[in-house]
Amino acid sequence: MTTYSKSQLAMYNGQDRKEVWIAYNGIIYDVSRSRLWRSGTHYEHWAGQDLTDELKDAPHTEKVFDKFEVVGKLKT
Ligand code: HEM
Repeated sequence: MTTYSKSQLAMYNGQDRKEVWIAYNGIIYDVSRSRLWRSGTHYEHWAGQDLTDELKDAPHTEKVFDKFEVVGKLKT
């Protein structure tokens, strides 16, 4: 699996290019096709970064990631 650094992930914030990626528990997901992540924002959360610690604010579990493609791992 490809490993990406935080600064590489930051390029997929939904602003600089059309792909929208988010990291959760070390795994990077491509959420580009989600209407709920259009332009990289989702209820005041921003794509292009590690959102592991922010999931606790969500009304849903990590199950929401199941249907999205894994694009790589986040470099630790
Ligand atoms: C105030 C915080 C948040 C709110 C109110 C919120 C709300 C929602 C709602 C209503 C949905 C669609 C229904 C559902 O699947 O339950 C959803 C989907 C989703 N959320 Fe959140 N969320 C929040 C935070 C987060 C965070 C921090 C993440 C990432 C760690 C996240 C990732 C996702 C993903 C990947 C989906 C699936 C999108 C889709 O199916 O198109 N959410 N969220």
